[in-house]
Parts: sequence; C-alpha cells; structure tokens
Amino acid sequence: MKHRTEDLALFGGPPAFLHNRRVGRPNQGDRARFLERMNRVLDNEWLSNMGPLMYEFEERVAQLVGVRHCVSLCNATVALQMLVGDATTGGAPDDEVIVPALTFPATAHAVRWRGLRPVVCDVNPVTGLIDPDAVEALITPRTRAIVGVHLWGQPCDVLRLEKIAESNGLRLFFDAAPALGCTHGDRPLGGFGHAEVFSFHATKVVNAFEGGAIVTDDDALAARMRAVRNFGFGPDGLVELLGTNGKLSEAAAAMGLTSLDALEDNIAHNRAMYEAYLAALSGVPGVRVLEYDPQHRNNHHYMMINVEEQGAGVHRDLLLEVLRAENILAQPYFRQAMHQLRPYADESPAPLPHAERLCGQLLALPTGPGVSTTDVEVIGDVVRAAVALSGEVTARRRTEPAGATGA
Ligand SMILES: Cc1ncc(COP(=O)(O)O)c(C=O)c1O
Repeated sequence: MKHRTEDLALFGGPPAFLHNRRVGRPNQGDRARFLERMNRVLDNEWLSNMGPLMYEFEERVAQLVGVRHCVSLCNATVALQMLVGDATTGGAPDDEVIVPALTFPATAHAVRWRGLRPVVCDVNPVTGLIDPDAVEALITPRTRAIVGVHLWGQPCDVLRLEKIAESNGLRLFFDAAPALGCTHGDRPLGGFGHAEVFSFHATKVVNAFEGGAIVTDDDALAARMRAVRNFGFGPDGLVELLGTNGKLSEAAAAMGLTSLDALEDNIAHNRAMYEAYLAALSGVPGVRVLEYDPQHRNNHHYMMINVEEQGAGVHRDLLLEVLRAENILAQPYFRQAMHQLRPYADESPAPLPHAERLCGQLLALPTGPGVSTTDVEVIGDVVRAAVALSGEVTARRRTEPAGATGA
C-alpha cells in the first residue's frame, strides 16, 4: 500500500507493476487450435470471399444469440453503415437517425457516413444507456431509425424502444458491439429490434483481429445484407444493390472461432474479477463500481467505475494519470459525448447533461484473462491511495509540471 505521494509512481515511486495491466488485451484463445485452423485455411487455398470458416463462425454466433441469421462482416462500423443505408433507401439527405450521446464515435459516424443526420440523444444518468423518453421527444417526420447501444454489455430498454419504433414506423437497431454473451432477462442480446450489430475487434470479448456481424431474424434483411457486403452481388451473380466490401476473411474467422471457444471461460474469469474489484474498491469515497441489474447477464468484459470528483477529491483524468504511471493502463470511456465531437459540433446541439457528466467520470479498469485477483487488489490499493492522498496529489500535479516528477 502506498502511504505518501512520493510512493506513487507519478511522483517518482516504484510502479505497482513492472509489466502493463491493460484494458482490451486480446482474447486469443488456444493458440494450437488457431494454428490448426490457419493450416486448414491455407490448405483450402480459400482466404476470403465466403469461405467455410466464415460460414462456421456465422453458424456458431447465430446459435449463441438464438437468431436465424448472422451476416459476418469486416467490422461493426461497416455493419452499422449497411443497416443505416438499408433503413433510409430512397430517403433524403436530411433524414435523421437517433443515436445516444454516450457511445463510441462509430455509432454516429456510420449515420453521417451514409449522408444522413445523426440526432444525438441524452442517456440515463446511472446506466448511461439511451433514454427512451429522450428518444420519443426527438422523433420528427424526418426520423427514419433509432440506434440503441448496449453499453458495457448492459441491455438498453429494448422492449420500450421496440414499442416506440413500432408505433412511429421506425427501424430499430442495436449497436451491441460490446455485448456478445450478455442477455436481457433470459434472452441473449442480438435478438432485439430489426437487427443488432456485434464487433469482433481485437479488443472485444470475442476477437477476430477485426470483424463484425449483423444478426437478425428478418430473412429479407439478411439476404440484402449478404448482397451488400459483397459489392451488391445477388445469388445469380448480378449486381442488384448498392454494395460495399464488408467481407470477413478466413484468417479472421479462424481467430473468431478460436476466441469464441474461450468465451464462457473468459466471462467466468471476468465475473470473478468484477467481484474482486467490488471488494477491492468498497468504501473508497467517490469511487463506485458500475453495478448491473442482476436480471440480466453481463459479460463483464468492461470493468467500469464512476469517479465523482467531489467525493473522491480527485478528477477521473488525474486518477487515470496516477494509474498509468503505475503501469495500470485504464481507459476513459468516453472523453467526449457524441455531440461534442468536432464533426458534429457545428450542429449547435443542446446540452446533454447526463452524457456530458458521465464523460468526465467513467473509467475502465484492466480485466480479462491477463488480470488476476492479486492484480485487482494492487489496483484497488492504488485507487484507494490516490483518493486518500487526493488533496496533495491534486496540489502537486498543479504545481509540478508533467515530466518534472519523472512520470
Ligand atoms: C459501441 C461501439 N460501436 C461500434 C464500434 C466499432 O466497432 P469496429 O471496431 O468493429 O468497427 C465499437 C468499437 O469499439 C463500439 O464500442
């Protein structure tokens, strides 16, 4: 335990870890299985363009999620672009898509990239999820679709959003990029709205180097998405739709399958780390582990805390600096709400107080198979020390310029 500011690595003390503990270390699964699959890929001499491993991956994901169709893709951003484009075919450039203010930029970028207007909506002050009342208030005759985001694997208010979408004749999609293996009640996320999107980026709970998928029970939508991901080619080999190149390669599918094999073990480990963090951070003033509704299953891939400066005496960003100096590579999710990002700031949006506040408070701590309960105890001690010494830490940081301390 560090008792003086001098003990903190930020002020010259020895770091808590020699090697980084970080957020988003890839879940690679069993290397021998991966190499075996890669040998199959090379033996097949079929590296991309809807190969056998890609179909196997799609089948596994569809089965896990309990939907009829999984259309695998090169990433989740392209998946969102494809869905938004499909929802607005024949529409006008000022068509609107409602997106939450608290999300990764890809959610809004996908809308703008298709030439449409993302209408940014405030979130629930506790969960950070899209607020259905705020969604209703933003619907106009130009609204075409709503995109909810299952942040940190928590389910959006899916049933209420389905009702709102239905009564207003809107498409409803969920950006489930962080939420594979999570549920709403007993039902896996992935089966709500008209379609949902997963990401299999290297940092996600299932990793395919880069990858994504649209999952849906809508046969016609799935058929269109299969054509769109392959330049618009239909089953007869003729181009029937405006397409793109969204295909998942066989190497990506080989990694995706191997990472998927490890999913349940990883979730069990993450859950144990979550419990360890609850204990390690209990009673630290102003620092709260995000607690999830026990009716729903979370994959605990993101270990989120909320740092309230007034209680903790230290701002989230300064705590982040303290942690990073200790080789604890936490991540602020997110630094800015969607309407504050430069590409959207020219639209002079109204303030969205809940999302803006959360953007200054939320922090993801390291978890995953590379993190042990002992690590969590050490990380908890550093957070506890930073808060206990917050007055001095803040004062020293103000007077000592970055770098002067050797940090
Ligand atoms: C909520 C959300 N949406 C979309 C994406 C984009 O996913 P991809 O990197 O697969 O394009 C991410 C990635 O982190 C995300 O967190």
